Amino acid sequence: MRAPAPVDRDSLVATRRDIHQHPELGFEEMRTAGLIAERLRALNYQVTPGIGKTGVVGLKGNGGRCVLLRADMDALPVEEANAVPYRSRETGKMHACGHDGHVAIGLEVARRLAPLELAGSVKFAFQPAEEVSNGAQAMINDGVLDKPKVDAAFGIHLWNDLPVGTIGIMAGPVMASVDQFEIEVLGRGGHAAAPHQTIDPVLVAAHVITALQSLVSRRRDPLAEAVVSVTEIHAGRAFNVIPDRADLRGTVRTFGGHFFEDAPRLVEETAQGVAAAFGARATVNYRRLSAPVINNEELSVLMRDVAAGVIGAGNVRQGVRTMGGEDMAYFLSSVPGCFAFVGSAPKGGGASPHHSPTFDIDEESLVIGAELLTQTAIRYLD
Ligand code: NI
Repeated sequence: MRAPAPVDRDSLVATRRDIHQHPELGFEEMRTAGLIAERLRALNYQVTPGIGKTGVVGLKGNGGRCVLLRADMDALPVEEANAVPYRSRETGKMHACGHDGHVAIGLEVARRLAPLELAGSVKFAFQPAEEVSNGAQAMINDGVLDKPKVDAAFGIHLWNDLPVGTIGIMAGPVMASVDQFEIEVLGRGGHAAAPHQTIDPVLVAAHVITALQSLVSRRRDPLAEAVVSVTEIHAGRAFNVIPDRADLRGTVRTFGGHFFEDAPRLVEETAQGVAAAFGARATVNYRRLSAPVINNEELSVLMRDVAAGVIGAGNVRQGVRTMGGEDMAYFLSSVPGCFAFVGSAPKGGGASPHHSPTFDIDEESLVIGAELLTQTAIRYLD
């Protein structure tokens, strides 16, 4: 096998900026998918568009083991506040999480692997709708892991919590499960001056919120990471009227384990128990949005090794994890693999957080990401 051509920094940056200027929300990535399909076809990949609605699959080779490289491609409903020449041209839409970079990296890896004689197959999954947590599942439902059957999956996230020139890789859970709950507190409305004739759902909701905060402190093993956040409260329309209902929404995050298993029951019991104590009723709608992202032991070692070759062992960080979620989890719960965080915070400091209107990356991270994924695929197939 020949060695891959060097990373083409200019084309990587140009592709990233092009996509950055034309952000598309989940399952609306028509332009992005079209650009990807066109580039992959020109490189002689076998291209299948429309996998998971707007997802694109590119396949090279057949026979031998098959490695899947995943890049998500959706943007966020955020209005860009950066005054850069490549700023978003779409009102209210922005690549504020770095997925523009993921697409550019995926295409650069495809370009470099295209002329090589690989010891197996490589399959690119350009995935829609990561931000709404269901693009990966949509691609899997449409068979992205079959024909040929995928043996391992790798992916990266550009990461502004890490300085450019570093990479975070570790085995085990690295991103959290994402659950969503909705609680409807049903009381009895009436006059604010005659509370004894009502069942006040606002007061009940306040107690439910407080009680939910005790789940992490009292019902969870303190050694297991978890977050419960109530993020929405809706009730009432007048200062002098006690409403008849209150609606709450929130999220539970874990790295799996007992609390992950028990959370749906605990949230429901708590809401209903507290409501009952006040003579009210609560109904709970609890949904699992994505599982934790869990890296395979052996393949994390492989990717760490590759990363050490790319940036030096001293720049490979252990222990980089977040309670944020990622639907890469669906790939990694179906096949073994590894998901790495590629540092993208500008060298001078002052990195804006992901999902913020001033988010941007140090574009050197694109070169590092492309090198990491190219070498990881080659090493895995060897
Ligand atoms: Ni993201």
